[in-house]
Amino acid sequence: MDPISNPYAPGAGTPPPELSGRDELLEKVRIALERVRRGRPTKSVLMVGLRGVGKTVLLDRMREDAESTGIQTMRIEAPEDRSLPAILAPQLRQALIRLSRNEQARELARRALRGLAGFVGALKVKYNDIEVGLDLEPEPGLADNGDLEHDLQALLEAVGAAAKKAETALVLFIDELQYVDEDELAALIVALHRAAQRQLPVTLVGAGLPQLRGRMGRAKSYAERLFDFPQVGPLPPPAAELAISKPARDEGVAFEKDALDWIVRETQGYPYFLQEWGKHVWETAERSPVTMQDVELASESAIAALDESFFRVRFDRLTPTEKRYLRAMAELGPGPHRSGDIADELDRKVTSLGPTRNNLISKGMIWSPSHGDTAFTVPLFDEFMVRIMPGDDWRA
Ligand SMILES: Nc1ncnc2c1ncn2[C@@H]1O[C@H](COP(=O)(O)OP(=O)(O)OP(=O)(O)O)[C@@H](O)[C@H]1O
Ligand SMILES: [Mg+2]
Repeated sequence: MDPISNPYAPGAGTPPPELSGRDELLEKVRIALERVRRGRPTKSVLMVGLRGVGKTVLLDRMREDAESTGIQTMRIEAPEDRSLPAILAPQLRQALIRLSRNEQARELARRALRGLAGFVGALKVKYNDIEVGLDLEPEPGLADNGDLEHDLQALLEAVGAAAKKAETALVLFIDELQYVDEDELAALIVALHRAAQRQLPVTLVGAGLPQLRGRMGRAKSYAERLFDFPQVGPLPPPAAELAISKPARDEGVAFEKDALDWIVRETQGYPYFLQEWGKHVWETAERSPVTMQDVELASESAIAALDESFFRVRFDRLTPTEKRYLRAMAELGPGPHRSGDIADELDRKVTSLGPTRNNLISKGMIWSPSHGDTAFTVPLFDEFMVRIMPGDDWRA
């Protein structure tokens, strides 16, 4: 069909033509943020899910929705190798400058900007990746102890006071939160907790891989009570069908029922895969309605495309030892698998594989759903590993 009107959008954080199956979660967050604005007790929301399920896209949509109701937002993505203060400071500065345009809130926003100056000055030694322009002189004693846990708390209190005065809320949208160090997560948890206790309109909507939940609990044991951890997973069949059929229908193209069924089965309802299949089916089919034969043909090129992009970028970041570990896991199937079984595949002792496993966890490739279990964070990665490392050579 006409490639110019191909509606599907495989990509990282690329908004889908139809954000299917997520209305409940969007509504839940909408309510939570409105409650925060009104100073009502509310849990912060942390979405957890595997790679490619649509966490980033949800975060962006939630942020747009919030902004459209006048809520102030900050959008941050935690990279693997930067400190939380460094990624937070520039965004906080911008939010405070916006808040200071509000007449009622000007004084408090300026005070928070002074707090930010103190915060940055005191923490620059420890977190030397902080780089931010400062607008005002620090206020001695405000957020300038040099202790992240204390200073972040004081800073978010000052920010919250300004937001409250402006009758808005300030919402931190943070993606890839699993990459933040545990002591920095702890500081964030304490600061949000404090703001909530004081009924200040500051909150977090975060997203991360499934290991985030455990990291939050280890950072502060009470985190479990402070946060909601909605799981973002594959779409149930009706929502997966809609994700494919609706954008096509908008372009005047129909799908035969068994063609849709086939796509849903092949993709297992994973959003990234749905977009990839949609795109390739569109390219393959010559006319409407799309048939099962079209899908069958397109599946091959869809898988090849995934192998060269979605899977490949992750595979290329691995050391040879890490590749062998994942290949051994794949040999056992989709998982989760017991660490002992993986070690057996490799003819090694569990303890000697500990460092490899830990590295794979910090790279975000695997996680531990329960003690001693290991699972992939990328859906269908087991099948990819078998394709890319076929045969038995990896055992040698
Ligand atoms: N509800 C949905 N319906 C249809 N397609 C979706 C949906 N959510 C996301 N997608 C599509 O899935 C792909 C992946 O989305 P996104 O990048 O948000 O996932 P992610 O969970 O953030 O992945 P990662 O963990 O790799 O960052 C995008 O191409 C997006 O358009
Ligand atoms: Mg993402």
